[in-house]
Amino acid sequence: MGSVDAGNLDGQVAFITGGARGQGRSHALALAREGADIAVCDIAAQLETVPYPLAGIEDLEETVRQVEALGRRCVAVQADVRSTEQLEAAVAGAIEELGRIDILLANAGVCGFGVFWEITDQMWDEMVDTDLTGVFKTMRAVVPHMIERGYGRVVATSSMGGRMGNPNLAHYVAAKWGVIGLVKTLALEVADKGITVNAICPATVDTAMVHNDALYGLFAPDIEHPTKADVEPRYTAMNPIPEPWTPVEEISAAVLYLVSEGARSVSGTTLDVCMGASARMP
Ligand SMILES: NC(=O)c1ccc[n+]([C@@H]2O[C@H](COP(=O)([O-])OP(=O)(O)OC[C@H]3O[C@@H](n4cnc5c(N)ncnc54)[C@H](O)[C@@H]3O)[C@@H](O)[C@H]2O)c1
Repeated sequence: MGSVDAGNLDGQVAFITGGARGQGRSHALALAREGADIAVCDIAAQLETVPYPLAGIEDLEETVRQVEALGRRCVAVQADVRSTEQLEAAVAGAIEELGRIDILLANAGVCGFGVFWEITDQMWDEMVDTDLTGVFKTMRAVVPHMIERGYGRVVATSSMGGRMGNPNLAHYVAAKWGVIGLVKTLALEVADKGITVNAICPATVDTAMVHNDALYGLFAPDIEHPTKADVEPRYTAMNPIPEPWTPVEEISAAVLYLVSEGARSVSGTTLDVCMGASARMP
C-alpha cells in the first residue's frame, strides 16, 4: 500500500465552490494550512425556494481574510454554479491569478424540504440546477485544464441523502444520487490522465444548512418555535454514534485525504462521514 501523504499541498491551488461559509470555508482553511492557495466562488445571494439565508458577500470576504491570515493567497468571486458563463470566468480568473488548479471541490449546494407531491417546479429546478447541474458544470469547467496538466484531484459533495431515500427531500436526494453518478462516470473517463474523482457523503453537518427554523420545524413539528436545544436530541437519535451533527473539520479531514497525492488509487468512490450511518448501508 502506498503512503498517505495528506499534509503536503505546497504549491498547489484549489478551486472551491460554495466557499463563503460552512464546509466550503472549512475546506479552504484546511487546504491552506497544508500550503495550498485558494480560489473560492459563491452565489452570495438568495434563491427564492431555499428556506434559509444563503451566504452573503461579507461571508465570501471573511473566507478570504481567514485564508490570507494563514499566509496563503485567496481569490474570491461571486459566481452561481448554475451559470456556465460565471463559472468559466471564475475558473479562468483563478488560473490567471494563481497559475493552475490542482484540486477541485464541487461543494456548493442548497437544501429544501417538501412532501414529494408538494414539491413545485421552481423548488425542483432550483435544487437540481444547483446541486446536480451545478456540480456537472463545475467539473466541466475545470477538468480540461487538469487533463492538460496530467494531474487533478476532484471531490464532489454528495450526501448520505445520495445513498438512500429520505422523506421530504425528494429533489435533494435525487440531485445527490445524481452527483455520485457523475463522479463514477468522470472517474472512468479520466482514470488514465492522473486525475481522481470522488464523492464525499456527509450526514448532518454543523452548518447553517441544518441550523435554521425550517429544518428545526421539520424535526420538531410538535413544538411551536423549536430551538437548537429542542432538536439536538432528535438529531442525535438518528445516528449510531450518538452525536447530533458532524463538525465541519471532520469533513475537511476526509477531503484532505482524498486530495492527497497518496490517494492516487482511490477514484470513483464515495466516502461517508456520517456518525456511523454507513453501518446501516449494504
Ligand atoms: N450541512 C449538512 O448537514 C450537509 C449534509 C450533507 C451534505 N451537505 C452538502 O454540503 C455542501 C456544503 O453545505 P454546507 O453544509 O456547508 O451549507 P452552507 O449553506 O453553509 O454552504 C453552502 C454554500 O453554497 C453556496 N451556494 C448555494 N447555492 C449556490 C450556487 N447556485 N452557486 C454558488 N454557490 C452556492 C451558499 O451561498 C453557501 O455559502 C452542500 O452541497 C450540501 O448539500 C450538507
